[in-house]
Amino acid sequence: MNTVVPAEAGVGGPREARAAAGDDVVLRAEHLSVVYDGERATRAVRDVTVELRRNEVLGIAGESGCGKSTLAYALMRMLRPPARLTAGTLEFRDRDGSPPVDVMALDGPELRHFRWTKLSMVFQSAMNALNPVTSLRKQFGDIFKTHVPEMGADEREERSRALLEMVGIDPGRVSGFPHELSGGMRQRVVIAMALALQPEIVIMDEPTTALDVVVQREILDEIERLREELGFSVVFITHDLSLLLEISDRLAVMYAGEIVEYAPSDQVARAPAHPYTLGLLESFPDMRGTRRQLHGIPGSPPDLRDDLLGCSFAPRCSFAFDPCAIVDPVLGPRFPVLGTGLDPSSPPAHAVHVPGDGDAWTVACHLHDPTRCPSEPPAALRGGAHGAAGTEQA
Ligand SMILES: Nc1ncnc2c1ncn2[C@@H]1O[C@H](COP(=O)(O)OP(=O)(O)OP(=O)(O)O)[C@@H](O)[C@H]1O
Ligand SMILES: [Mg+2]
Repeated sequence: MNTVVPAEAGVGGPREARAAAGDDVVLRAEHLSVVYDGERATRAVRDVTVELRRNEVLGIAGESGCGKSTLAYALMRMLRPPARLTAGTLEFRDRDGSPPVDVMALDGPELRHFRWTKLSMVFQSAMNALNPVTSLRKQFGDIFKTHVPEMGADEREERSRALLEMVGIDPGRVSGFPHELSGGMRQRVVIAMALALQPEIVIMDEPTTALDVVVQREILDEIERLREELGFSVVFITHDLSLLLEISDRLAVMYAGEIVEYAPSDQVARAPAHPYTLGLLESFPDMRGTRRQLHGIPGSPPDLRDDLLGCSFAPRCSFAFDPCAIVDPVLGPRFPVLGTGLDPSSPPAHAVHVPGDGDAWTVACHLHDPTRCPSEPPAALRGGAHGAAGTEQA
C-alpha cells in the first residue's frame, strides 16, 4: 500500500509563517493560451488561470511537454515566434502599493524594466547556457550595465561579489569562468543572476533537475533561505511532484497545456483529487517520506497539435467513465467535503466557481462534478490510499 507522508513545512520554515507574511496577489494571469504556429499549430498552453501571492512558492508540475516552460515564457512576456499568445491577461501588483500593472500592455523599455527588476527567470538548463569563456565579472557586469546604466564600475564589482557571496560562492570567483565551476556552483551563479536586480518574482524552470540529490537539496535550501531573506515570490517548475509538495505552498498540476488540479500543496499531498496528480505522485519517490512502490502512468500524453475531444487524460485514466471521452471538464471545486458524501440540498458549486480563487481546491475532473458523477469519487481521490489507483473504478 502506498502512502505519502505530507511535509509539515517547506524547506526551512512552516507554511503558516509564509501565509502570515501576507497573502496578497503579486501576479495574476487569466485565461492564458499560447500556440506554436506551424503547419498544424501546437496548443501548448490552454486557458490557464493562475495567481501568485506575495512571499509564496507556487509549484507547477506536469510531465515533459505539458506546457510548463511555455507558460513561464508567457508569464515573463518572452514568447518568441513561432510561439504566439492567443488569449489572456496578466496583472502585476507592486509591493509599493502602486496601481496594478497591465503587463500585456507593456512595451519597449517598460517591458525590459519589468522583466528583470520585477520578474526574473532561471531558465531551464540555464546553468549549461552560461557563456563558458566569459568571466563571471563580465556576465554580472552586463546585467547591471543593461538595466542600471548609471551604476559605476566599482559598484558593479561590489554588487557582483556580494551576489556570489549571497549564494555561497567565494566572491574571489568573480574573476573565474563558468567552466571552472561544478554544476551546483553554476546553478547558484544563475540564481544569483536572477536575483541581481532584486525582483519581486522569480520563475525557476527545473532549477535542480540536472543536479544530484545532495546538491539538489543544497540548492533548494539556498533558494528558501534567500527567499526568506529577500522576500520574493517563486514560481517553481518541475516534473517532480513529490519535490514540489515539499517546497511549495500551492500547486498547479498541468496536463496537455491545461491546469487539471490547483490547490494548497499540503492538501494535495494528503489526497490528490485528479487521477493524473495521483499518477504523478505514484511515479516519484517521496523526498523524505516512507518507501513505497512506484507505478508510473500508462500511455503517453496527447499530441497537442491534435484537436482534443473530452478530457485529454481520459485515454490514460483508469477511472474514466462515460462523459470523459466527450466532455472537456473545467476546473471546479474538488468533491465537496473529504469523505462525507454529497449533500443533495446544495447546488453544484461548479456553477459559481472562479478558477484560481483564493485557497480553493480545484480540479478539472468529472469524478468531482456531482452533476455528472452521482457517486463519490474513488477512495484514492478523496483521501484514501494512493495505492488504490488502477484497481478501483468509479
Ligand atoms: N519552438 C517550438 N515549436 C513548436 N512546438 C514547441 C516549441 N517549443 C515547445 N513546443 C511544444 O509545446 C509543448 C509544450 O512544450 P514545453 O517546452 O512548454 O513543455 P514543458 O512542460 O516545459 O516540457 P519539459 O518538462 O520537457 O521542459 C510541447 O508539445 C512542445 O513540443
Ligand atoms: Mg520545460
